Amino acid sequence: MPHLDRHIFVCTNQRPPGHPKGCCADKGSVAVREAFKRELYERGLKGTLRANSAGCLDQCAYGVTCVVYPEQVWYGGVTVNDVPEIVESHLIGGKPVDRLLIKDK
Ligand code: FES
Repeated sequence: MPHLDRHIFVCTNQRPPGHPKGCCADKGSVAVREAFKRELYERGLKGTLRANSAGCLDQCAYGVTCVVYPEQVWYGGVTVNDVPEIVESHLIGGKPVDRLLIKDK
């Protein structure tokens, strides 16, 4: 097993149209996940940092929702444009991106 410094899970849950909870997939989470994977690959970080899809993380109102391990830091409202900053500041630098944190987690 490779040692991972950090692992980010991106909710890519898809619910049927009109579902009262909505879902992260409808807010662009598949593209967010792909952007994380591409960013890590292009920086040569695949071996120590990883991005994976997750099912519903039970924070649907905040979607696109992500969680970073091992710190268990939660992000909400993440867009493709936020990905480079999260990678640079948090996944590499260890400093969470404050403006995107889900504060009550
Ligand atoms: S659908 Fe993404 S957190 Fe629930």
